[in-house]
Amino acid sequence: MTITEMKSRLVEEIFEWKQKRNAILLAHNYQIPEIQDIADVLGDSLALARAAADTSADVIVFCGVHFMAETAAILNQEKTVLLPDLEAGCSLADSITADQLREWKAEHPEAVVVAYVNTTAEVKALSDYCCTSSNAVDIVRSIPKDKEILFLPDMFLGNFVKRETGRENMHIWMGECHVHAGIQPHQVEGVLTEHPEAELLVHPECGCSTSSMYLMSEGVLPKDKTHILSTGHMLKHSKQSEADEFIVATEVGIIHQMQKQNPEKRFVAANPDAVCPFMKMITLEKVLDALKENKHVITVPADTAAKAKLAIERMISIG
Ligand code: 13P
Ligand code: SF4
Repeated sequence: MTITEMKSRLVEEIFEWKQKRNAILLAHNYQIPEIQDIADVLGDSLALARAAADTSADVIVFCGVHFMAETAAILNQEKTVLLPDLEAGCSLADSITADQLREWKAEHPEAVVVAYVNTTAEVKALSDYCCTSSNAVDIVRSIPKDKEILFLPDMFLGNFVKRETGRENMHIWMGECHVHAGIQPHQVEGVLTEHPEAELLVHPECGCSTSSMYLMSEGVLPKDKTHILSTGHMLKHSKQSEADEFIVATEVGIIHQMQKQNPEKRFVAANPDAVCPFMKMITLEKVLDALKENKHVITVPADTAAKAKLAIERMISIG
């Protein structure tokens, strides 16, 4: 059997098992192309959380990372949520523990806690609001101006939100995602020099997002050609824009979908090494095993889930 024949056999089996188990396949925009191509819903963190909240399927196969599957499990206590590889974690979610957040809250007892969705269920349970890169600005704007805010765990997203909202009373946790932090201003500048006509799309978690905002405000980067967006908004923008070339500053997996939706446009990675090893752990073989062998079931203790659910539901309803 050729590799292509083996892959299409695997895909057929996945479809058969999906039907047998009344399962839905949710996939993040950073998944490998083979997974993106068979997903029932492909999207950014917010779109996937919304899809998980709305589904009538009995089984959710989460092709993403652990915190995303946990979020789906919190929203669907009565459904089975499967993560095809338990090792698919997230360096950003690991950058703050529940104990560290407890200590931080004790130092700021009156503060409202806004946690990026890239956090563990335990951290979410200690938070007032969750947010994603799609709606972080809207969520912070919805909190009364006189309230102190603890924003965690991503410092680049935090700085972006602080700048967009002009909020002074916002403390930011110094966490980062090693993949996005690795997308550096000098790499973006280099690619921009080679593609001066291209639009620049930057994910707010990137190491280059702060400098991009600064260069935009200084007029070095043109405002109409520089956009700081979540992965879902990047896809939407690349479809709607009249530009035919884009520099993409985020995890490179998204370029498959951009190219697929816009075959006539050109997409260039700001840093071709920006590859999330956790996102790439999910393969067709593991998805099939997950469906056949019911693995790995993601559950969250009921008391943690009940507290985290309030913060997640606030996230889903805003933006
Ligand atoms: P979004 O898909 O919400 O933009 O987040 C990117 C990310 O890092 C997911 O892990
Ligand atoms: Fe986590 Fe970064 Fe990977 Fe997203 S890209 S899952 S934030 S390690």
